[in-house]
Amino acid sequence: MCGICGVVGLRHATPIVFEGLRRLEYRGYDSAGIATLANGRVERRRAAGKLDNLAHVLEENPLPGTTGIGHTRWATHGAPTTCNAHPHSTERVAIVHNGIIENFETLRRELEAVGQVFHTETDSETIALMVDYHLAQGLGPKEAALKTLQRLEGAYAIAMIFAGHEGLMIGARHNAPLAVGYGDGEMFLGSDSLALAPLTRRITYMDDGDCVVITPAGAEFMTFDGTPVTRKEQTTALVAGAIGKDGYRHYMEKELHEHPLVIGQTLQRLVDPASRTVVLPDMPFDLASVPRAVITACGSAFYAGMIGRYWLEDIARLPVDIDVASEMRYRNPPLTSGSLGVLVSQSGETADTLAALRSLREKAVHILSILNVEQSTMARESAVVLGTVAGPEISVASTKAFTAQLTVLACLTIATARARGTLDTAGEEALVAALLDLPSRAADVFTSGDAIRRMARVVAEARDVLYLGRGSMFPVAMEGALKLKEISYIHAEAYAAGEMKHGPISLIDRTVPIVASAPYTPLFDKTLSNLQEAKARGGRLLVFTDTKGADRVSAIAEDMVVLPHVHDFVAPILQTIPVQMLAYEVAVLKGTDVDQPRNLAKSVTVE
Ligand code: M6R
Repeated sequence: MCGICGVVGLRHATPIVFEGLRRLEYRGYDSAGIATLANGRVERRRAAGKLDNLAHVLEENPLPGTTGIGHTRWATHGAPTTCNAHPHSTERVAIVHNGIIENFETLRRELEAVGQVFHTETDSETIALMVDYHLAQGLGPKEAALKTLQRLEGAYAIAMIFAGHEGLMIGARHNAPLAVGYGDGEMFLGSDSLALAPLTRRITYMDDGDCVVITPAGAEFMTFDGTPVTRKEQTTALVAGAIGKDGYRHYMEKELHEHPLVIGQTLQRLVDPASRTVVLPDMPFDLASVPRAVITACGSAFYAGMIGRYWLEDIARLPVDIDVASEMRYRNPPLTSGSLGVLVSQSGETADTLAALRSLREKAVHILSILNVEQSTMARESAVVLGTVAGPEISVASTKAFTAQLTVLACLTIATARARGTLDTAGEEALVAALLDLPSRAADVFTSGDAIRRMARVVAEARDVLYLGRGSMFPVAMEGALKLKEISYIHAEAYAAGEMKHGPISLIDRTVPIVASAPYTPLFDKTLSNLQEAKARGGRLLVFTDTKGADRVSAIAEDMVVLPHVHDFVAPILQTIPVQMLAYEVAVLKGTDVDQPRNLAKSVTVE
């Protein structure tokens, strides 16, 4: 996590870096800071909390200079205070860091032994003080940086500037993303292409183990032992203007309203509407012959993967193993080479998912990643990338990326089933027709806004909430519970409805609302029985159903939201939208920071 931005050039650096940080705030908002070279000296301004606090500091105490670096922090080591905010600096050097220096305690002891004095609780200050030490010993900036990089263990993207060296910036990456941007007489560094989007579309994505020396004239890439390497320049497709709120109260509200659009855009890439067939890009392996699939991801992306498992097992008859990436990366499951690894990630930078990708690749698993950021590290390390075409997702709580991931997983399921001979032409046409119907059905969900807001008033009063679903509605319930916890800070747990009687049913009383996803699918009756059991014990039922289930649900529910009835296959995609909307409306009622909930960051690039 944490966002990094830097510039060397002719213009005033602070506003350029600040704008970059604005676009990176989704990576962390515990503190922010900028350092520049002003008349050759390192100057910095920092503030705890959001970027707006830094803006006030800069207003009162402007920061001149044309060489600058900035940072927006998600705290790992050390509280989110101004003192611990980046940049960390000495009179010789300033650095910003994204990641964790795992051997910082050893390095800190070594540096203290030679007289370096630490002022913060962070692991990152070690980098500044080690570079400073080497500079004090008479090394030049490049040599001091390389010597330091050779000692660092862990994950890092770093940018450094040096007193007395206007127009020089050094960057390095190892297990955390960093991109170099090319301007006209100026050069940039950024954690991702989104940060650099208003500045340039000409980008080089650095590789792990790369160091880069940047001046206004260009960039020189090398490994940490100083061996020159060549890195390709690319043109990014990102455009600068795509991240306004467009009149919505929050990015999350805007992104919720984009569900129909992104489902449609994603389908446009993967479906031929005329023949009602799925058309995937060419793959360097044959879906017909993969012996099993392994799905892994984190958070909401993992729940999307869970729904994918139901589909792949049921429709493609493919055995599927699934786990959260933070477990999968250390599980060492016995896998037949040639299995299919399905990695799901909005950002394509999530540290655990990336590590799981690499461990699966080592087992000769074919890597197919479902990604929203198609220029991400995971994209570059995958054999096949299926893009989710959701556009930038700014709200920390994932919404539209989730339904786009499901749309891709649905298409992957159809293609796999066709390849394996478990789905005939008529079957494929029916499933594709159901998918093509989704954008307009998804648009219909927004007519239920009043009913969802009514439910939100009940949920907002609760301290604990249970979410229930069966089959592919179980991950929908998990997604609803995660979203509620994440943005409203209300405790919520999701259970497979049939599991209630094995323990959680003892929690039920009038103070614990039960939110259930129960559309009219083959598991409708079973779900309803479980809801009856909860009602019999005083449970207050708030149920998402559809037009076919409405009559029977109304007989037991305290309140319900009725969605259009759709094909069972796509029901989890549609049913996700109102559970996310419910969490949003509860958060609005509670007055929380919807787009940037406490303690979280959008992109989790630390383990
Ligand atoms: O970028 P990714 O999809 O890999 O991120 C995975 C999770 O961190 C993410 O889905 C997280 O759970 C969201 N904040 C949920 O809303």
